[in-house]
Amino acid sequence: MTLPHFPDLSSRTALVTGGAEGIGRAIVEAFATQGTAVAFLDRNVELGEALAADLVATGAQVVFRAVDLREIGATQEAIRALAANLGPFSICVNNAGHDERHRFDEVTETYWDDRLAVNLRPMMFVSQAVAPGMRALGGGAIVNLGSTSWMQGASGLIAYTTAKSAVIGFTRSLARELGPDGIRVNCVTPGWVMTERQRKTWWTPEKWAAAQVRQSIKGEILPEDIAAMVLFLSSGAARRCTGQNYIVDAGVV
Ligand SMILES: NC(=O)c1ccc[n+]([C@@H]2O[C@H](COP(=O)([O-])OP(=O)(O)OC[C@H]3O[C@@H](n4cnc5c(N)ncnc54)[C@H](O)[C@@H]3O)[C@@H](O)[C@H]2O)c1
Repeated sequence: MTLPHFPDLSSRTALVTGGAEGIGRAIVEAFATQGTAVAFLDRNVELGEALAADLVATGAQVVFRAVDLREIGATQEAIRALAANLGPFSICVNNAGHDERHRFDEVTETYWDDRLAVNLRPMMFVSQAVAPGMRALGGGAIVNLGSTSWMQGASGLIAYTTAKSAVIGFTRSLARELGPDGIRVNCVTPGWVMTERQRKTWWTPEKWAAAQVRQSIKGEILPEDIAAMVLFLSSGAARRCTGQNYIVDAGVV
């Protein structure tokens, strides 16, 4: 698909979490093609370094930092170092997440905390780290990635679905906290997006057929479809959009 162009994004600096693979990777690439300076965080060193090198070779301004977002101190330190290098971030995309499956009866306290530490906690502390820079710039945009899994009653991943439902409450509360500073906060909620990992791990002909029955628009939802919504919400075109949840699921009804 051809991504839309938002001219104001070329003078911005964006931070993306979980940018080495999947939807995050498409978001990093999308910002790079807009001329946005992009920094991304990921724990996958090999993929992160390769993506950054590929994009820098095209003339884009892209920086990668390896970090496990479960380590809040290291994450906030990485963000401070990146901002010192690139200038304060006016865009932040809290994308990283992991839909690891687990049986309800087997979830331990440690496992529960760990899943929330991947799928929810970084949103709070990454936002906290970028907010002062956004305030100094006079505004900014934060986009959080949700998931339709809990809306559809998906089973076998209750820690993930709980975290993802909380992203909407977090988004609305953060929009209230930061709105007076000109910082907009929105949630993008994808349906089933055909990333490499989804194709490899979860795709079966039966699941695909069932998803197609429920989608109003038939066919694959691609990472770029999510990136397009993230670009819009990050741009000045969305200057009156905040505290909202934008579902990109090809119309599951
Ligand atoms: N693909 C889908 O169908 C789908 C559907 C709904 C929501 N989502 C959401 O979209 C976002 C991106 O999902 P995706 O499908 O691209 O996932 P993915 O697994 O393909 O990529 C996730 C990226 O995040 C990184 N990451 C994960 N945990 C991390 C950690 N602790 N520290 C640092 N990096 C970490 C991974 O290394 C990877 O690069 C997630 O928030 C996910 O919940 C995806």
